[in-house]
Amino acid sequence: MEEYHMDYRIMDLTRERPEWIEQAAVLLHDAFHGRTESWQDLDSARREVMESLAPERISRVAVDARGKVLGWIGGMPSYRGRVWELHPLVVAVDQRRRGIGRALVEDLERILAERGARTLWLGSDDENGETSLSAADLYADIPEAIRAFRKIGGEHPCEFYFRLGFRITGVLPDANGPGKPDIFFAKRVRKGGWNF
Ligand SMILES: CC(C)(COP(=O)(O)OP(=O)(O)OC[C@H]1O[C@@H](n2cnc3c(N)ncnc32)[C@H](O)[C@@H]1OP(=O)(O)O)[C@@H](O)C(=O)NCCC(=O)NCCS
Repeated sequence: MEEYHMDYRIMDLTRERPEWIEQAAVLLHDAFHGRTESWQDLDSARREVMESLAPERISRVAVDARGKVLGWIGGMPSYRGRVWELHPLVVAVDQRRRGIGRALVEDLERILAERGARTLWLGSDDENGETSLSAADLYADIPEAIRAFRKIGGEHPCEFYFRLGFRITGVLPDANGPGKPDIFFAKRVRKGGWNF
């Protein structure tokens, strides 16, 4: 299914669109190059995009009228499809803060709700001291560390996820080296309201 927005559409990324696959890889590489351990070269970014095309996964792109990829989102199922991991998500640098990231996540949520999913989650690393969960002894009091969470600076996307209704549900200390945790965000997937 295609989702229409003002000046772009959101649709499936498929093998039949090698030019979109390449653009998605470039977006991923550009966004994370120098910031994280992942996707430091274009080949690893290309592999990530190809892996997102596996039949059990969801891979969607926002494309403008000229065929330019503005953003890309992927989803991976677990727990028999009740839980989906959002992985990855990227919007082109010159297209940020105009609602494309939100539109991609909401598009994914709509698809997941139709499939009966309950939970959407993601891990967002803090490798650059951008949040209060970095450079701290998290084991001392993990619930308190999460309660006192705040962004310190930099480009960590936590505020974006909070705006979209995600909550921090956990943290994996030292995932990327001492004091460099992975932070887990999750939200309930709703189909027409509360669905406990
Ligand atoms: C995170 C990212 C996908 C957000 O995409 P985007 O298109 O700029 O986000 P949107 O314009 O849809 O923003 C949605 C909401 O989040 C807010 N928001 C987005 N980025 C924000 C930021 N850096 N700080 C504070 N709020 C932010 C917006 O103000 C907006 O609020 P509203 O809809 O309630 O008015 C984009 O910045 C990106 O690609 N970053 C680099 C890659 C990355 O970090 N991906 C996530 C990996 S876990």
